[in-house]
Amino acid sequence: MAQSATIPSSQAGATAVPTEQYNYEIIKKFAIMAMVWGVLGMGVGTYIASQLAFPFLNFDIAEITFGRFRPVHTTLVIFGFGGNALFATSYYIVQRTCQARLYGDGLATFTFWGWNLSVGLGVITYMMGFTQGREYAEFVWPIDILITVTWVAYFWVYLQTLLRRSQPHIYVANWFYMSFILATAILHIFNNLQVPVSLFSLESYSLFSGVQDAMTQWWYGHNAVGFFLTAAFLGMMYYFVPKQAGRPIYSYRLSIIHFWALVFLYMWVGAHHLHWTALPDWVSTLAATFSILLLLPSWGGMINGIMTLSGAWDKLRTDPIMLFLITALSFYGMSTFEGPMMSLKSVNALSHYTDWTVGHVHSGALGWVAMITFGSFYHLFPRLWNTKLYSLRLVYVHFFLATIGIVLYITAMWVAGIGQGLMLRAFDEYGNLAYTFVESVVFLHRPYVVRAIGGGLFLLGILIMAYNIFMTITTARREAARVEAKIGAKMARASS
Ligand code: HEM
Ligand code: HEM
Repeated sequence: MAQSATIPSSQAGATAVPTEQYNYEIIKKFAIMAMVWGVLGMGVGTYIASQLAFPFLNFDIAEITFGRFRPVHTTLVIFGFGGNALFATSYYIVQRTCQARLYGDGLATFTFWGWNLSVGLGVITYMMGFTQGREYAEFVWPIDILITVTWVAYFWVYLQTLLRRSQPHIYVANWFYMSFILATAILHIFNNLQVPVSLFSLESYSLFSGVQDAMTQWWYGHNAVGFFLTAAFLGMMYYFVPKQAGRPIYSYRLSIIHFWALVFLYMWVGAHHLHWTALPDWVSTLAATFSILLLLPSWGGMINGIMTLSGAWDKLRTDPIMLFLITALSFYGMSTFEGPMMSLKSVNALSHYTDWTVGHVHSGALGWVAMITFGSFYHLFPRLWNTKLYSLRLVYVHFFLATIGIVLYITAMWVAGIGQGLMLRAFDEYGNLAYTFVESVVFLHRPYVVRAIGGGLFLLGILIMAYNIFMTITTARREAARVEAKIGAKMARASS
């Protein structure tokens, strides 16, 4: 395994394929769309957080009520922001590490339009009130079909590029991406097995019912977390952390062990979303057991990423991009410690149906998914446009806004969730509930205001990033035009 301990592409400055022969155009498109959906999705997130604190913001307009805007938020951030970031980085990494051009320009462009059309149509249909009612799989059946076709094309582009590689070895980041592509295909198809009411109706009925239906949905739901929000972003981590640190990954062996343990364990844990329900008790216990085991590979990945910086810790003092990447890994460690704890039946009895879950989600979603994407994008964008980042100072500003935003968000949700859980379970000396439901709602107001402020700071951060990237691209374009004009003038002078 020694030959593969470093990223086998341009780490040492040598590339078999000249940069201009890679397909960077498709990566640019996906990366820009990730930013667009990210700003919109986090904007809607801040808005729905404000709606929970100040319900008048629903304005009695059906299309923008919390109920319809919530799946708009989750779809925009997970599939719009996260999905486009994964397409962009996977297409970049597979080309760089295989030293091969991306297969099928046309097919890759089709994945761009297919994916973004699905996200856009999803948002419009939810606002109109059409949904399958399955969390993170709310898309109505025609969009499900579009996603399936797009995903098969994605698989094909990725596989064919891997097969074209001029490197004997497949770098570990590609393993993570490939597992994400395969698992997402299986999850999406099985969870969306439906019978449409008619060819002209957007409504459909699931093939599953009752407890099997719940089980299928949460098998999908947690593996969406495991493969979409985790494995694929680990792929991102395994490329961009060593690249930004300028060092090989701490232990390549650990990355392989971590990979197999992670993909094996994730598949079993979905039932921890269904503790204390009609599910057989042993299924619940099995899910909790595998969830606890999952701590090991999760922390293996975190340690591998963080230790990559060993011997170069000083970079944290001078490189704000590294700050993003290492903070992301720290939040990954934190949320993958909290998750297994919440999967214990006794803890879940308190945390389920409360905002503790929402806090856990966002320590993973903001702390891990968004932060690792920001760090990777700050590395990626200048390279795509062959230029330097417009402002490193703005990266620092973004980092501090985002970190303070996350801390406000998750601490507010711990207070809200644990308070809510305790209030809903408190009894007086006669055995009656000590608090009414409405009292618990009143209690939530302050944490909800703090969460909205935290979200607002996080949103401000991504807006500053969007400005920084916009300026990076426009400066690069201006520079390229100037160089071109200079060359043109020189040639004209030479020929005259
Ligand atoms: C400005 C940043 C964000 C804010 C203010 C925000 C706010 C919210 C709010 C208010 C909810 C509804 C909670 C509830 O139903 O009680 C929510 C749900 C959710 N958000 Fe965000 N969000 C943000 C960013 C993100 C990002 C970047 C992701 C993923 C990458 C994400 C993933 C989710 C998920 C998965 C849920 C559903 C949680 C559950 O069902 O427990 N959010 N968000
Ligand atoms: C070892 C890793 C993890 C384990 C064992 C785990 C476990 C759990 C548990 C027990 C719940 C609460 C289920 C409930 O009461 O309904 C939960 C919810 C959730 N977790 Fe995690 N978690 C892990 C890591 C993560 C990470 C890294 C993320 C995000 C990137 C994440 C995203 C979510 C989401 C989105 C939900 C809410 C689902 C919903 O109810 O809509 N988890 N997780």
